[in-house]
Amino acid sequence: MNPIEPASPHAEVRRGLEGVVADKTSISEVDGQRCQLIYRGYHIDELVGRAAYEEVSFLLLQGALPTRAQLAEWTAQLAAATALEPTLLALLQSLPRRAEPMAILRTAISFLGISDDAGDAAEVSLEAIRRKAVRTIALTPAIVAAIGRMRAGEPILPPKAGLGHAANFLYMLLGGEPNRQAVEALDAYFVLLADHGFNASTFTARTVTSTHSDYYSAITAAIGSLKGPLHGAANRKAMEMLTEIGSDEQVEPYVQRTLADHKRFMGFGHRVYKGEDPRAKHLKAIAKRLGEAAGEPKWFTISERLQEAVWRAKKLYINVDFYSASLLHYLGIPTELFTTMFACARMAGWSAHVIEEASDSRLIRPLALYVGPRDLKFVPLDQR
Ligand code: ACO
Repeated sequence: MNPIEPASPHAEVRRGLEGVVADKTSISEVDGQRCQLIYRGYHIDELVGRAAYEEVSFLLLQGALPTRAQLAEWTAQLAAATALEPTLLALLQSLPRRAEPMAILRTAISFLGISDDAGDAAEVSLEAIRRKAVRTIALTPAIVAAIGRMRAGEPILPPKAGLGHAANFLYMLLGGEPNRQAVEALDAYFVLLADHGFNASTFTARTVTSTHSDYYSAITAAIGSLKGPLHGAANRKAMEMLTEIGSDEQVEPYVQRTLADHKRFMGFGHRVYKGEDPRAKHLKAIAKRLGEAAGEPKWFTISERLQEAVWRAKKLYINVDFYSASLLHYLGIPTELFTTMFACARMAGWSAHVIEEASDSRLIRPLALYVGPRDLKFVPLDQR
């Protein structure tokens, strides 16, 4: 069809673009039938617990796992970019302390687009995008930690030399050197959420990139998309749901209430997976271990009861956000920050997709089937 023709009234409308294959990608495969997630050829089961986020972010952006020397250089580049620049710090401190963390993060990333050190924020060459990506992947956890510290009325902590990506985040947010179990748990969380095909936020980033707009605009828009409760904010809503339930005995009444009110169970259901989200079993196992180590298995057991009860009542599978909630809670991360944690992880995937889109792009511009009135005659203002 000629792209400027209006869609035929008989055109099939795929609401939510369900089932539409919008483009090719070699970054990740979301196999809904087999419930598998592949990053650049590696099943996530191969990577989780074995490759750190630094390695996986390199894999997603560069297309292959790094050699030892490449990893050392990549890690050094990330570490060199982690500290908040004074202008960014000043911006964060000027914003209302209680503002929504995702709104602050969106503003901060947008600000990076006008404070790029090299003064080429709008530069769209692949080399420039790669440099911006390193800067943004490194800075996002520092921004999120700063948001958390400011919300708690605590001084902002600079990153600590020698700590990895996940460890440094925990250090900057919570202070004190984090224990190994916590670092491994957060690292696995970051790895598992690093990319996921053409999900809403990634597709948003690619749509912006397809207009030849700049990296920061694409990432800012992606954050806005992730912020919604049907996407990234489901982890936060899932924790609020667990908190509302409060105890094992309240699980069944909660399920019945939710069904009666025709509300959704947050952290359940998925557009693509026809069975359980392949990330969920890993997150569940980690949450269980953290709960046991903390001597506070309650949030895990409520989650498990709820998973079973929702399955019995509605045959719904859990998605990535469900056990992310108890996992992040056990790490001591405040619930309001949960969706920004998702953004920290997804920064690698978004960046890889911006690079892929920019390297071989075609303007993303679907059609709409117009269903409004036609042939109306203009009525002058004083006659309406
Ligand atoms: N709770 C209750 N019912 C649900 C849920 C849920 N979590 N998910 C789907 N359903 C039901 C719907 O009510 C609908 O039933 P109906 O046909 O009787 O009306 C049916 O399943 C299909 O739902 P859709 O909304 O059409 O499915 P879609 O593919 O558009 O939705 C989505 C996928 C948005 C993820 C949905 O499952 C949902 O709202 N889940 C809760 C929010 C959530 O967890 N989001 C995170 C998703 S993963 C991610 O983005 C990281």
